[in-house]
Amino acid sequence: MTKITAAISAVGKYVPEYVLTNKELETMVETNDEWITSRTGIKERRILKGEGLGTSFMAIKAAEDLLQKSKTNPAEIDLVIVATATPDLPVASTASYVASEIGATNAFGYDLQAACSSFLYGMSNAASYIESGRYTKVLLIGADKMSSIVDYKDRATCIIFGDGAGAALFEPNNEGLGLQDEYLRSDGIGRDFLRIEAGGSIMPATTQTIKENKHFIYQEGKTVFKYAVSNMADVAEKMLTRNHLKEEDIQWLAAHQANKRIIEATANRVGVTSEKVMMNIHRYGNTTSATIPLLLADYERQLKKGDNLIFAAFGGGFTWGAAFVKWAYNS
Ligand code: UT7
Repeated sequence: MTKITAAISAVGKYVPEYVLTNKELETMVETNDEWITSRTGIKERRILKGEGLGTSFMAIKAAEDLLQKSKTNPAEIDLVIVATATPDLPVASTASYVASEIGATNAFGYDLQAACSSFLYGMSNAASYIESGRYTKVLLIGADKMSSIVDYKDRATCIIFGDGAGAALFEPNNEGLGLQDEYLRSDGIGRDFLRIEAGGSIMPATTQTIKENKHFIYQEGKTVFKYAVSNMADVAEKMLTRNHLKEEDIQWLAAHQANKRIIEATANRVGVTSEKVMMNIHRYGNTTSATIPLLLADYERQLKKGDNLIFAAFGGGFTWGAAFVKWAYNS
């Protein structure tokens, strides 16, 4: 029996209209465009405005973009996974709401949280369901409203993050295309360096935790940077060596967009030149779970059937990993 492979058959995206530029951030905190650009590569990010709009708003829009472009009937979708670190509500699955809103009436849905590695981990989930033969259409959405957990008085974090959503449909492929290999890792050592301290089961919300700003994201940037550079490069390199790939065999590097310098370090380690490195951090900043699907949507027209892609991500936890994907279609 030939092995079923799981391939991405369509992508979609949504970013909010409001553009928060480095110039505007200069009026909010002690920072400047030159520092942000040279240290991170970010020029602007999108912010979701509007009362009552959460992560699901963007996830639904990204899914609808995918459904409309690919002419997929939502009733045929078996499963909706929403990869997110900012669910609509602490309890109540965002994915089940999204599934209902997009008309995926025959699907089940759940959320997956692995910080900035959520989409990569989600790919592993989505692909496994397809490879098992049990399901044939799995919709994976990476979406985050980072502005809901960012302190816009903290210059160490508010310059980095943005809001957005991207979606990818996974289906069986009979030509062996799609996910070929993955290497996913985690290490609890990272918990103190990138986290939201309060609002969870260790420290539930109180007036005191609110007063002390403990519901915002905190990051020890330098430490996270150090771990991200070495770990993301290690796992990306492993995808090449384990699959006997040389630099010239790789058409694209799709790396989590946290910092241009981290992406470039990963590219250097695997030996790919800059024109093969997908990059949109300058426009969206770090959208956490949405960075990789936003890259796929932005680069979709340039991707060719059979292209070899290396995915890599690193995030809070720590969580990180890499994947080797053979692209399955021409758009
Ligand atoms: O996606 C999840 C994983 N996250 C990441 O991968 C992020 C990893 N970390 C980073 O990307 C970088 O560490 C940052 C972009 C967050 C910070 O860049 P850095 O080069 O590590 O800067 P730093 O924190 O070491 O700060 C250097 C200096 C400090 O001043 P002194 O102590 O040298 O006088 C900071 O106070 O830059 C100062 N600084 C700023 N200056 C202007 C920190 N933030 C800012 C700012 N504007 N926004």
